[in-house]
Amino acid sequence: MNKSLRRAVIAGNWKMNETRAEAKALLEEMVPSILNADCDIVFCVPYTNLETVADMTRVTRIKVGAENVHYASSGAFTGEISAEMLCELGVRYVIVGHSERRRFYGDTDETVNLRAKATINAGMTAIICVGEMLSEREHGVTNEVVAMQTKIALEGIKQESMKNVIIAYEPVWAIGTGRTPTVQQANDVCKLIRNTVADLYDQATADSLTILYGGSMNPKNCEELLSEPDIDGGLIGGSSLKADEFSAIVAVASRLGYGKDAPKAEGE
Ligand code: PGA
Repeated sequence: MNKSLRRAVIAGNWKMNETRAEAKALLEEMVPSILNADCDIVFCVPYTNLETVADMTRVTRIKVGAENVHYASSGAFTGEISAEMLCELGVRYVIVGHSERRRFYGDTDETVNLRAKATINAGMTAIICVGEMLSEREHGVTNEVVAMQTKIALEGIKQESMKNVIIAYEPVWAIGTGRTPTVQQANDVCKLIRNTVADLYDQATADSLTILYGGSMNPKNCEELLSEPDIDGGLIGGSSLKADEFSAIVAVASRLGYGKDAPKAEGE
């Protein structure tokens, strides 16, 4: 299929974990084992760890990501962080619309769209999260929900900016629960996202779009998931906090070795 056009991306989402001292210890343990990976690696970490991770990965190809961003460029938004502020620290990726942000902090499809645009306008890559809740899957409306989230998230994003977009399909009921959809179910939704992007833009844009699966991905289930034709990588929560588990997932993505015809990432 078109997987040769897309390098695998393995992104860790640390969530609200790791003090600076803990982050340093984790990186010291983890980085040596993933230095020669044949896939793109991103650590999305709490704001307070961004500089530490940037410093400790500077001479590697590992990229730094944030877990959220405000959509305004500046102003009276106490406690918020702008895209420009992140960029200045060396951040290259931002997770937007994670289900925990949607659920606990009122993120909506509209604000996810604004955050994605702010991220792209600052020259970073947005990792846009979409995914259905368990009740939506049970009602049989997964495809409708995910297609709607995808369409609204991408509203106003030009075709030439799509190279700065990654979409992560994360079924909400699979996050942190140890439950996963079947690989067929996971791939079906990733394919639906790709088809939605083909309708919005064109087939070439859809073929080069990186789509991640997220939700209880671990060393045991990652090979099966990453071998699916429309799953190009993983957004990893729990397993990204364990050096051995994260490096095992990176090793599998490297071994599968797709993305041979993809454009080289910066720094290579
Ligand atoms: P999990 O989290 O791997 O712990 O399920 C994934 C995520 O929330 O991005």
